[in-house]
Order: sequence, then C-alpha cells, then structure tokens
Amino acid sequence: MAKILTGIQSTGTPHLGNILGAIIPAIKMANQSHEESYLFIANMHSLTQIKNKEILKNNTFTTAAAWLAFDLDPNKSCFYRQSDIPEVTELAWYLSCFFPYQRLKLAHSFKDKSENLKDVNSGLFSYPMLMSADILIYDANIVPVGKDQLQHLEMTRDVAARFNNLMGDTFIIPEAKIQGNSNYVTGTDGQKMSKSKNNIIDIFLDDKSLKKQIMKIQTKSLSVDEEKDPDDCNVFKLYKLIGEEENIKNLASRYRKGGIGYGESKEILYNEILNKFAKNREKFFKLMDDKEIVERLLTDGATKARVQAQKVLKRVRASIGY
Ligand code: ADP
Ligand code: TRP
Repeated sequence: MAKILTGIQSTGTPHLGNILGAIIPAIKMANQSHEESYLFIANMHSLTQIKNKEILKNNTFTTAAAWLAFDLDPNKSCFYRQSDIPEVTELAWYLSCFFPYQRLKLAHSFKDKSENLKDVNSGLFSYPMLMSADILIYDANIVPVGKDQLQHLEMTRDVAARFNNLMGDTFIIPEAKIQGNSNYVTGTDGQKMSKSKNNIIDIFLDDKSLKKQIMKIQTKSLSVDEEKDPDDCNVFKLYKLIGEEENIKNLASRYRKGGIGYGESKEILYNEILNKFAKNREKFFKLMDDKEIVERLLTDGATKARVQAQKVLKRVRASIGY
C-alpha cells in the first residue's frame, strides 16, 4: 500500500505549469490510493524567498484554494500547512546532522537560486533537509514531483539511509514518482513556465487580465497566410495540453495550411482555458471570498497530520537516545 505525499511552495498563485505538472496528477494519485495521502503547502520553504507577512499569508490561501479548486478531497487526504507542524523543523535539524555539507553544496536548485536571487540565506541552502523532513516524518512511500525535484528526492533517500545505517532502522525510504508526461509546460516566452521568470499563465486571474497574459505569448512573425509549424509555436504547445483531441488536430491542420494568424490562435487558447477551467475558476473565486472555510480545512488537516508526525518523531528521538 502506498502512502502518497507531496507539497507545493506557496511563492505565488499556482500557475498552469504547477497545475498540470503537479496539482492535478497528485490529486489523481491521492484519490486512487487506498491509504491516507498527505498534500500540503510548503509555506516554510517560501520563507526562504518571501519576507512579507501579508504576501506569505495570501500566497498560502491562493495555493490552498488552487488545490481545493481542483477537487482535492480533504476527507481522503491530510491537507495542511507545513508551518502548523512544528515537529518537521525538529526533524530537519536531526537530518542535517547526518548529511554532508559537501553534498548540499551540489544541489542544482541551490546553485540556480543563489545565482538569481539577491537574498541567498542559509535556509535556501538547507532547503533539502526541510523537504526531507516533510517526507520522512509521515513514513511516505511515494512522492509525486516534477523532474526538477528529483535531486531533492535523492537527497531524502540518501539522508534516510545514512540515518538508518548509523542509528538503526528508523525511516521508510521513499520513492519519487515523476508525473506522466515529464515535459515542462512552456511559459509565454517559450521557456519552462516558472513563477520566477515572469512568463506564467495564471488561470485564476479575472478574464481581462488572463486575456492580457495570453496575448503576451511570444510567437514568430509569420503573416496570416503563411504556412506554420504548429509544434514550433508557443500558443499551440499550450493548446495541445488542454484542448480536445479532435480540436487539436483541426488547429494543427489550420496552422499547416496557412490562413490562421497568431491573434486568432491566442483567442482560441483563451476560450479553451475559460471553458476547460470554468468550474475550477468558479470554485477558486468562491473560496477566496470565504477564507474561513479554507482556514478550517487546513487547521483540521494539520491536527490529523500532527498525530502521525509525532509518532515518527518519537521513533527518531528514541533512535538518537533522547
Ligand atoms: P516554479 O518554478 O513556478 O517556482 P515550483 O518550483 O514551486 O514552481 O514547482 C511546484 C511544482 O510544480 C513542482 O512539482 C514542479 O515540478 C511543478 N512545475 C513547476 N513548473 C512547471 C512547469 N512549467 N511544467 C510542469 N510542472 C511544473
Ligand atoms: N520543493 C518543492 C517544490 O519546490 C516543494 C516541497 C517542499 C515538496 N516539501 C516537499 C515536494 C515534500 C514534495 C515533497 O515544488
């Protein structure tokens, strides 16, 4: 039986890449599992980048509302905020005493972030130890993540094995599960969609702002009549991820024949997003209007999650002799 666990950082409202690449697949796996799953908001990881109380709080709500808008079932999964589980930071400390500094220095995500961010704090450096604690503290077996998180999962397995070797069997060694289509969702500039790159599509914006984002998608400058390669177009690449099979084929053939301009294809993509995510958007807006519901769900989820966290932490303390 597999215990599924995954988290998503609350560094902004989840974008289309996060939704297709992480949220939808994780919810699907959690709903199919017979065991309780753990889906959470990594709001302590976000503190490495955000130092504003209101923004931190608001991001936590938008991230929670996005999970719920895609039908996360809080009765099937423990759904909680990382900061409500203080046990996890205690475990992160223990783990960091079992993991070589030189290995942490090799983390790609730290290298990337330390090159791009102004605030290179030591939390950013020890990020993988908090992430390992997030996973190991619930005895999770399967962790659905995008491929950018694979190295963190390797570190989690490594630190758990090192601890087990030195202190006796304590942790379950988890496995990463890369989501189906492991290609990244492309952003408006054709690169990987990412909150830090100003290239996202936020499906939870109001209609007008959403349209503006879609109109920003970079394209070639071929005229309406020219024949176009659909697979070489950022608009089509996005449409392909969400459109119906038949419609994708039709649009591809219109590209190849010529006669469709980028303005029209953007309009088609915009309407498909409105149509496909209509229910999710409605649910999201409703939840953001009633944050008390979200707050209650998260608090209840944390109460459930803490029971398990305390159990595992007790085991760890016993292994160390505390
Ligand atoms: P971002 O790069 O926007 O900061 P995160 O690092 O917070 O995103 O990623 C949260 C989750 O969403 C991870 O599991 C990650 O693999 C997934 N994800 C992020 N961007 C994309 C993308 N463009 N396409 C597919 N999945 C993505
Ligand atoms: N690092 C992950 C991300 O950026 C978020 C995360 C924190 C996570 N703790 C986790 C993911 C535990 C899976 C399991 O997306």
